[in-house]
Amino acid sequence: MMDTHIVILAAGKGTRMRSSQPKVLHRLAGLPLIAHVLRAAAPLAPRSTTIVIGHGGDRVREALAAWPGLQYAVQEEQLGTAHALQQAESRLAGATGALLVLSGDVPRLSAASLTRLVGHHVASGAAVTVLTAVVDRPYGYGRIVRIDGRLARIVEERDAAPAERAIREINSGIYVFSLDSVFDALRAIDAHNAQGEHYLTDIVAVYRHRGARVETVVVEDAGQIQGINSRSELAEAGTLVRQQKNEELMAAGVTIEDPATTYVDQDVEVGPDTVLHPFVILEGRTTIGRACEIHAGTRIVNSTLADGVTVLNHCLIVDSRVETGASVGPFAHLRGESTLAAGARVGNFVELKKTVLGPGSKAMHHAYLGDATIGAKVNVGAGTITCNYDGERKHPTVIEDHAFIGSDSQLIAPVTVGQGAYVAAGSSITDDVPAGALAIARGRQVNKPDWAAKKASGSKKE
Ligand code: UD1
Ligand code: CA
Repeated sequence: MMDTHIVILAAGKGTRMRSSQPKVLHRLAGLPLIAHVLRAAAPLAPRSTTIVIGHGGDRVREALAAWPGLQYAVQEEQLGTAHALQQAESRLAGATGALLVLSGDVPRLSAASLTRLVGHHVASGAAVTVLTAVVDRPYGYGRIVRIDGRLARIVEERDAAPAERAIREINSGIYVFSLDSVFDALRAIDAHNAQGEHYLTDIVAVYRHRGARVETVVVEDAGQIQGINSRSELAEAGTLVRQQKNEELMAAGVTIEDPATTYVDQDVEVGPDTVLHPFVILEGRTTIGRACEIHAGTRIVNSTLADGVTVLNHCLIVDSRVETGASVGPFAHLRGESTLAAGARVGNFVELKKTVLGPGSKAMHHAYLGDATIGAKVNVGAGTITCNYDGERKHPTVIEDHAFIGSDSQLIAPVTVGQGAYVAAGSSITDDVPAGALAIARGRQVNKPDWAAKKASGSKKE
């Protein structure tokens, strides 16, 4: 087996995005464009992967910091795609075999297409193999000019004669080169074109001139090689990527009532018999178990739901865990590594931050529970607030099993409510409540008989 090395071109500014962010970091289905490219390439088990960075290069490095085995080449000035590839030469010193060149802005490629491309290149012994596609709207792409059926050269849109513009076979910007000859051939490329850039596409004509073998592989699903150059193309690609993800989920037994409004990131897992209602958004590293029901308007980010969980309408769940049979919402907010244990329930306008709500416990209405550890079968009344923040530091609240917190209570942390204890409604709890006790901490009620009538007659005296 021949070695495969990869270079990803990602130094361009992406002018057409009109963005302060490097183009390849714009997100598609939750991942930066360039991460999609890296994922497609991973199954090829490359000997090395070099990313050519330039515009916003530090940000690209930072975004890919967790990705193993990447090396970088810096293109200080963006003088064109050929110039970009030249920057990788020193990184590939001594390397032999096939060089797969990818574009950081072509995110929907499949690993299968890349494998086929490299396979054809190696088998045919070509100096370069270009991945092409036949499309209805070739506008903006380089055109594949064939003579007697063989690739003669690639002409960019801006440099194309009218007859060439009518060609519907386009250059994907993805190539495999023989490492023996590629950097030498690059040196023969000039910048005599409409943009005054060194075009990598010109290497085809250089190789032809030298009598080297030039091959093409036509990708069947042209959508795969769509490049992202504008926000509009980003949105278009987003729709297609989501569609594909939804199809995969449905094929695996997930009900999606309205795929058009269901947004599921690439890495999200959803178990069979789970129902996703319209306008559900599942992001990042989220895992949803079997037979869950997620109602409309809910967004779940980097969270885990076990089996049989119900999430009612309009909830936000971030970095949290919901165990089997628990129920959330409507209008609830879980965040900061909160956990709902099995069978626990959180209802209307309840916020949990870094809080564990134990098995079978309930907080059904209007509560804020922060930095709290709440045991099993606890009832948290409407309007309960853990006062966890003193303006400088956060303090914990502990509520032990079977405790009952009356409505509209404040638990001023740090504080512990013991097992089976009761807190009377409307209390401000500043001291620990012993197990089994009743704590009442509120002003006593005073009734003033006939007060209203006295007020009306003007004889009211206080
Ligand atoms: C390029 C191809 C075109 C092809 C299309 C497919 C050239 C001259 N044209 O056009 O034939 O149909 O891709 O999507 O190659 N880059 C650098 N440094 C530079 C210039 C670009 O690293 O100096 C990078 C960009 O960041 C991008 C990639 O190369 O990831 C392609 O550049 P872009 O300007 O988008 O080329 P296109 O005009 O799309
Ligand atoms: Ca492009």
